[in-house]
Amino acid sequence: MRVGGRALWLLEPADPNELRAAYSAARERGFVPRILGGGANLVIEDGLYRGVVIATDRLKRCFRPLGPVPDFSPHAAGAQVAPAEPSSDPRLIAWCGATMPSLVQTATALGLSGFECLAGVPGHLGGGIAMNAGGRHGEIWNMVELVRVIEPDGTMHDLPRAECTPRYRNGGLGERVVVGAVLRLVPSTPSEVRDRTREYLLEKRRVQPVTEWSAGCVFKNPDPARSNGCSAGKLVELAGLKGRTRGDAIVSPLHGNFILNRGAATATDVLGLIDEVRAEVASRSGVELEVEVKIWRADPA
Ligand code: EPU
Repeated sequence: MRVGGRALWLLEPADPNELRAAYSAARERGFVPRILGGGANLVIEDGLYRGVVIATDRLKRCFRPLGPVPDFSPHAAGAQVAPAEPSSDPRLIAWCGATMPSLVQTATALGLSGFECLAGVPGHLGGGIAMNAGGRHGEIWNMVELVRVIEPDGTMHDLPRAECTPRYRNGGLGERVVVGAVLRLVPSTPSEVRDRTREYLLEKRRVQPVTEWSAGCVFKNPDPARSNGCSAGKLVELAGLKGRTRGDAIVSPLHGNFILNRGAATATDVLGLIDEVRAEVASRSGVELEVEVKIWRADPA
């Protein structure tokens, strides 16, 4: 959203072992590090956070496994994926900082199907797995075969899909940090995957403000039984809140579940608007919306 304050420490590990070392170094000094992926689903409060943030920006690699046992090391990668190189193995290994658009692009070039449902979704793989990113055409956990995680005690290990319980917008990994994943896709052709990706992207652009500064959908969709089948966006619209502003923050006139930064919004504007929308939707419809975006509080001034 391009709002929010600063952190005292920002660590930028360049490979999975550095990520683990950074995480453990912070924990040993009494910090519980916050992990910053693409920031696509995050509102950071204004002010100073006197803690440690670990950014996954440099952990961008995506490559093909060399054998049945996944090797996440930088050396095993050999080379990054050479697009269009045919292979009978429909798996990819990606580190947590691989961006969603780059994965969609790589899978398309290789003619591997699965990532189309994430066309137009911003952010990094790690955040996507932690939050179970997706939409009406599917979600990221449909492709996860195995996820490599760091436990709160600093140990790193692999969790097979069968041991995980992802839910709607929640990867179910708790406090664990996602290092990377083995993704299993479905063999197809580049042109088929490209056509589907384009179709989904156009569909998304029609209904969502994808090019503006936002944190994606602000609220989770409520249980349809409680909301008379209305999505969060529809409830916001029915409450007459589209276009409502606070400072430079505005409820998207296109889609009620997006709050946009028109340029100079502060986190205080955005968080104030979220509270206002939640309260007005509750009083109009009786539905208490649950916030989907992550909110990082600063330290009290
Ligand atoms: N609608 C309105 N007014 C609005 C917005 C939506 O009437 O202002 C109606 C639409 O016309 C449609 C229904 O509500 O009939 C659902 O809208 P949409 O298709 O836009 O989907 P959504 O349920 O609002 C979900 C995900 C999105 C994902 C889309 C498309 C959540 C909270 N949102 O939105 O995910 O992109 O489906 O697959 O689950 C995100 O999580 O950040 C996100 C953007």
